[in-house]
Formats: sequence, structure tokens, C-alpha cells
Amino acid sequence: MGSNNKCALAVSGVTVAFGGFKALTDVTLTVTSGTVYGLIGPNGAGKTTLVNVLTGFQTPSQGRILLNGRDVGTHPAHLLRREGVARTFQAGRLFSGLDVLDNLAVTGVGLGYSRHASEVEAMRVLDWIGVADLAEKPAAGLPYTDERRVGIARALMFDPAFLLLDEPAAGMSEAEAEDLALLIARAAKELETGVLLIEHNVGLVLSVSSHVYVLDAGQVIEAGDRDAIIASQRVRDAYFGSDQEAV
Ligand SMILES: Nc1ncnc2c1ncn2[C@@H]1O[C@H](COP(=O)(O)OP(=O)(O)O)[C@@H](O)[C@H]1O
Ligand SMILES: [Mg+2]
Repeated sequence: MGSNNKCALAVSGVTVAFGGFKALTDVTLTVTSGTVYGLIGPNGAGKTTLVNVLTGFQTPSQGRILLNGRDVGTHPAHLLRREGVARTFQAGRLFSGLDVLDNLAVTGVGLGYSRHASEVEAMRVLDWIGVADLAEKPAAGLPYTDERRVGIARALMFDPAFLLLDEPAAGMSEAEAEDLALLIARAAKELETGVLLIEHNVGLVLSVSSHVYVLDAGQVIEAGDRDAIIASQRVRDAYFGSDQEAV
């Protein structure tokens, strides 16, 4: 999957209404392979809703979801995952009763691979991330940052073309967040994964993303390369404002 440079996951003109409230309004966004895209915006801006739309967990009220130009708007989440669109969740969502290897293997089996192939792949991914020593550990007792890494490992099972990360560095120290940034950059470079990184840590986003989308009240208010985002007065006003330190 990663070998095709033209891989693109996109939403076009997407609106999501919950009753009378629009969580997203006419959002258009593209993620291409081998590149990290940042998605920033204040709490309630619609970031998680957008990831839910991109991964088939939320059907939009209007608009299209395109995978390599094909409309996949009616695909349920498990089918999109088979087609290479993987995600993590804001809360870890590991199976607490299973060890780490089995947490990953379950995803492989869900994707249609044999138990054995899934375990082999799980070890390969854990090793690639550098946490092979966690394989036999129960998921329930993991330290926070390890839990995050295992969540990412699970999403990377069988080499997805796209990886959508919903606030993976939440609660991490600066040093841990920097480690995570390296891992994200490696996924894009070595695996040619197209990454969408949602993060409150704006420094982390700007350090690792080549393009950034800024969402505010359900709308994309700015999109561009890192330098354009840093320079944007509109972004400063809307997001890099006085409460930046608080997020
Ligand atoms: N299932 C839902 N039903 C009703 N409102 C929702 C639902 N999911 C999200 N919302 C609302 O949509 C807005 C955007 O939420 P969300 O996408 O979680 O924002 P973010 O991830 O940027 O913090 C919020 O106001 C939230 O309360
Ligand atoms: Mg969210």
C-alpha cells in the first residue's frame, strides 16, 4: 500500500449535524501517503468528529469521503480499516484482559489473517516501534505512554496506508512527546504512511507536520504548510491566543 505515492484519503464538503448542532460544516481536507498532516483546534472544534468521519465511525450529513478517488462514504469502519485506514482513539481502548501481543493479534484476526500470521505481524510491529519487550505484559497494567505506543502499534498492524492519531501525546511529558514525534515521523518516512495528527500540543504538531489544518467551531479556518500556519494572523487570533498555554 505504501508504495503508491498517489494514495490519498480525503473528505470533501463534509457536514455533520447532531440534531440542530453542526459539529462540522463544509469541511474539505486531504491526507496523502508519506506525509504528516497536523490537525489543531480548540476543544469542541470537531477534530474527533472529523476522524470519526474519515474512518467510517460517523456518517456525515453531507459531503463525500474519498479513498484514492473512490467514494467510500458508505463503508463501515471495519471495511475502511481493511482498505488501509487505521486510527487510534483518544482513550486507549486496549483489551485490559489480554496481553499486549494478543491486543494486536485480535486486530489481525479481525482483518482476516490467521492467528499465527497475526502474532508474527504483532511481533514485527512491536519490534519496529521498539517495544517488543511489552509483548507478554498484560495491557491492564501498562504505564500511560506504553499504552499509547501499543495503541499506535495496533493501528499499524498490516501496514495501513493511513494512520489517524487522536491526541496521542495527551498527558505525556515533553520528552515523551518528542519520542512520539520521532515515531510519527518514522511512520511517514519508513512506512510511507499518510498521517493525520490531532494534537493539543501545538509545538509537537509544528515539529512533525509538513501541512497543518486548523479547525475552529467545525470549520477549517486555515490550511497550509507549517510556515504559513505560524505566520497566519487568523490562526493567531483564533487559536494561538492568550489561552494557548492552557491547552
Ligand atoms: N455524538 C454526538 N452527539 C452530539 N454532539 C456531539 C457528538 N459528538 C460530538 N458532539 C459535539 O460536537 C462538537 C465537536 O466535538 P469533537 O469532535 O469531539 O471535538 P474535538 O475533538 O475537537 O474536541 C462538540 O460540541 C461535541 O459536544
Ligand atoms: Mg477530540
